Amino acid sequence: MRREVADAMAEAAAQVNGNPSSIHRSGRRARRILDDARDDVADVLGVDASMVVFTSGGTEADDLAVNGVASRRAGRVLCSAVEHHAVLEPTRHLGGETIGVDSTGLLSLEDTERRLAEALDEGIALVSVMTVNNENGVRQPVEDVVSLVRAMSPGTPVHTDAVQAAGWIDLRGLASVVDLMTISGHKLGGPVGVGALVVRDRGVLTPRLLGGGQESELRSGTQNVVGAVGLARALVLTAAERDLVAAEVATRRDRFVRGVTAGVPDVIEPARPDRGSAAPVVGGIAQLCFRGIESEAMLFLLDEAGVEASAGSACAAGALEPSHVLAAMGVPDEFARGALRVSVGRETTDAEVDFAVGVVVDVVQRLRGARAA
Ligand SMILES: Cc1ncc(COP(=O)(O)O)c(C=O)c1O
Repeated sequence: MRREVADAMAEAAAQVNGNPSSIHRSGRRARRILDDARDDVADVLGVDASMVVFTSGGTEADDLAVNGVASRRAGRVLCSAVEHHAVLEPTRHLGGETIGVDSTGLLSLEDTERRLAEALDEGIALVSVMTVNNENGVRQPVEDVVSLVRAMSPGTPVHTDAVQAAGWIDLRGLASVVDLMTISGHKLGGPVGVGALVVRDRGVLTPRLLGGGQESELRSGTQNVVGAVGLARALVLTAAERDLVAAEVATRRDRFVRGVTAGVPDVIEPARPDRGSAAPVVGGIAQLCFRGIESEAMLFLLDEAGVEASAGSACAAGALEPSHVLAAMGVPDEFARGALRVSVGRETTDAEVDFAVGVVVDVVQRLRGARAA
């Protein structure tokens, strides 16, 4: 968490001792602080404050979007095959369908058109396509999806999970065309456990949490005022420095990818196969796949050497399952099993990148040596 965010939250915590729904003085003070946070979030996203619904994080906001719309509108739910599980699982649960991506992870607009056409008879409840993928950083053509949906199925709401985008992209343009947008605090240097769903027209969804009717009846439960302050501050700080930081971080990500790919053979960056710019990718994420090694062993050795990374795949029953994102991209299993996802942040230095390159190269060589022996 950013220090300024922690400070803002500590300050808010010292002031908030009332329930923002109470009419006494402490309650009104809490309400004012909550409203200010809502205004800040709305400002950064370029939307009306009345459209911002605070939630307990990205997962809840995604769930409210998918299940909330599906319980109000009849028809099929469609989402991209590379969504975060927070969208994918509710979509699957509802018997929805996924739209394919190409080998670089970019949503196929042809497949989108085909799926929309196939679902027209039954009707389409919702289309959900993430703004930026959490495993490979690919920026999806959500604006084009909105145009297709408006042309082919007018009235069908479009949701975008922008959890991984808010740190890198000015979302004002996109927020003005989609119907629903998810953000989350902890991808921005904000706190975990707080997020928001931007809702253009509340008439498209039914609330999931019923109770006291908070958040304009869309999300009952006493609001997490201090968390909302943290989310708002993180978003404001991120927006102020975004362009500069995004460019610097992208340079460091590329330095990492160049270093590793120069250091060991048989490694691919699936989103950018020629190390060029096949798919538009945001700065903070590098996804590499090493042939013939297992992610789990790699992550263990990296951690021991001081490099904390992930495989970008779900941990099910103690075993790492190959990523559904890499599967959707058609990455061969021998590479997908050796996936590595590294995040580069605004505080990452060149020296840290070079250290990580050295460790990754060493670990991959050791694992391959052990296999050969
Ligand atoms: C793209 C995406 N959507 C949703 C989530 C879930 O957000 P939260 O952890 O705030 O529930 C994440 C978290 O990593 C994410 O990367």
